Amino acid sequence: MSRKKTFSIMAAASAMALTLSACGGSGGNDAGGDSGGGSSEGDTMRLALNQTEQHPSYITLTDFGERLSGGTDGWDIQVYPNETLGAQQEALQLVSDGSVEMAIVSGTQLENLNENFKVFNLPGVFQSIDHQMNVLNDEEIIGDLFTSLEEDENITVLSGGFTQGARSVYNSQRPIETPEDMNSLKFRVQESDVAQEMIRRMGGSPAPMAYGEVYSALQSGVIDGAENNEISYLTQKHNEVAQYFSYTEHLVGIDYMITNTDVLESMSEQDRETFQQEWSQTVDDFTALWKTQTEAAHATLEEEGVEFNQVDKQAFEEALAPIVEQNLSNEAQRQIYEATRAAAE
Ligand code: GCU
Repeated sequence: MSRKKTFSIMAAASAMALTLSACGGSGGNDAGGDSGGGSSEGDTMRLALNQTEQHPSYITLTDFGERLSGGTDGWDIQVYPNETLGAQQEALQLVSDGSVEMAIVSGTQLENLNENFKVFNLPGVFQSIDHQMNVLNDEEIIGDLFTSLEEDENITVLSGGFTQGARSVYNSQRPIETPEDMNSLKFRVQESDVAQEMIRRMGGSPAPMAYGEVYSALQSGVIDGAENNEISYLTQKHNEVAQYFSYTEHLVGIDYMITNTDVLESMSEQDRETFQQEWSQTVDDFTALWKTQTEAAHATLEEEGVEFNQVDKQAFEEALAPIVEQNLSNEAQRQIYEATRAAAE
């Protein structure tokens, strides 16, 4: 048995204990249990999220659940925010095991299961949020990729996704204007090779860790900075412990909705159609809310004393340029990359 599986069983056990004590159990059919008939009555699906209740994902997912319960034969979603069911790496395993039905995970997590997901985690691949959304809703580009985890992992990735907007660096020491300014500083990154390589090329040292650990790592000085969007920076309160936010805008990130494949297949045809439609609506609602909340977050952060600055964009682009070629190592990745770039405005 691999380390991953052993770990997942432990994580599943603790998440189940948590779930049962939190809500007294869902009392319905098991996720991944005797499903597969395509007609079973619905149940409450648990959704693991690592964001706070103020984040647009929590808000739009809660609405998604309400619409589902009104429009299907008993399907509903219970969103567990703040990593209550585990950080994203654990959540991924829980969905695979069927002990949690759904989760929102960053693209970086999926590159660890299928390297072709790396393409969408590369700097410069998406030129805007609208470009990103067009690509991630284009079945011709994402079709094979998003079903690629079904057989081995029992995970289906839903089309679209939640944009992470442009990610930039922030730290507790100084404004960053050039890659040299990042020298000798340690930046937290998501747990992925591409993310680590990216910070190295940008001039800093990478420290991979889970999202929920970043605040205390910044506070204790274990790391000097991190990289993220303004909404995450604000909702995680990282501005309290790292006040310099520098607009590197090195990539437009993506969060995927992953679901347990058995659970999806246990839905009646009609409920699955409603599920898909309501999910597409949720993606649109999220994208719209994202744009207004990003502006609002910026204004709040300024009021709270964050020092924003622009950077030498060209210097960062040049430093990052080789990372694309280096990470396109097979034909499928190249095709996804070419199709994505061709869809840019
Ligand atoms: C963003 C993203 C999360 C991700 C986080 C991170 O907030 O939406 O899914 O986990 O960045 O940096 O870990």
